[in-house]
Amino acid sequence: MMNKTAPIGVFDSGIGGLSVLKQLIRFLPYENYVYLGDTARVPYGNKSNTTVKQYATDCASFLLSKKVKLIVVACNTVSAVALQSVKDIAVDVPVIGMIEPAAAAALHSTNNGRIGVIGTRATIASNSYKNAIIGLAPDNAVQVYSQECPLFVPLVEEGMMQHPASHIIAEEYLSLLISQKVDTLVLGCTHYPLLSPLIRDIMPNTSQIDSGEHSAVAALRLLADNQSLADERKEFLLKHNIEFYVTDYPSHFHAMSQNFLGFEIDTPQLVELTNE
Ligand code: DGL
Repeated sequence: MMNKTAPIGVFDSGIGGLSVLKQLIRFLPYENYVYLGDTARVPYGNKSNTTVKQYATDCASFLLSKKVKLIVVACNTVSAVALQSVKDIAVDVPVIGMIEPAAAAALHSTNNGRIGVIGTRATIASNSYKNAIIGLAPDNAVQVYSQECPLFVPLVEEGMMQHPASHIIAEEYLSLLISQKVDTLVLGCTHYPLLSPLIRDIMPNTSQIDSGEHSAVAALRLLADNQSLADERKEFLLKHNIEFYVTDYPSHFHAMSQNFLGFEIDTPQLVELTNE
């Protein structure tokens, strides 16, 4: 039985996991949260699987030290290549990743059976989305087209979501998926929802799947099934209870986070992750 008042732990390599946190707050507004952005080591997506596993277990150990009741791996790269490593150390704490909920949502969304997946190099190379979507599809009735977008994460970390250079790069990355006539696009990296308006400009008729939204629904279900939802309280309307930690403190992180979340947050605390 989980402790209802314990926080939900959320981690990502950087700012991208805030897109997941935003969705968690939408579906689970009464919860307490601990958010960790491993900003000293972002990006994860072009590192080897061995390195990502090490980083992921460092982040998960930190969240476990905060006595969280649930870990949400707010990073598709970790979910794709290191989910089991996180589960292995989170023995008594449930872990929710990004891939399965978003794969199911993509299948539900498509009408023409042509699904695009964009993600980091590591996520795309793992074929995790492709395998998950095809594994859920009856009679192999879908085609999955994947595209790695390695420049998207640095563009988001730099706050260049509206920059013309981002538009040119996005057009380049998305052109193949447009010619493959996908009607559904999985934003298979938690940084990408910050680029959602830009992607919509380029692919206006394509449904976007936000992995954070669907994993937040999975978190709601899991906590409800375990009778571990925090009790309702009114103060959440005034201030969400979130502790923020980063492993490096980029000057723009605080302002960008508040801007994206749409409310004020405490200054993130600097933390050093120890290799266990
Ligand atoms: N936001 C993460 C993801 O969902 C990690 C991106 C990165 O650090 O490369 O994949």
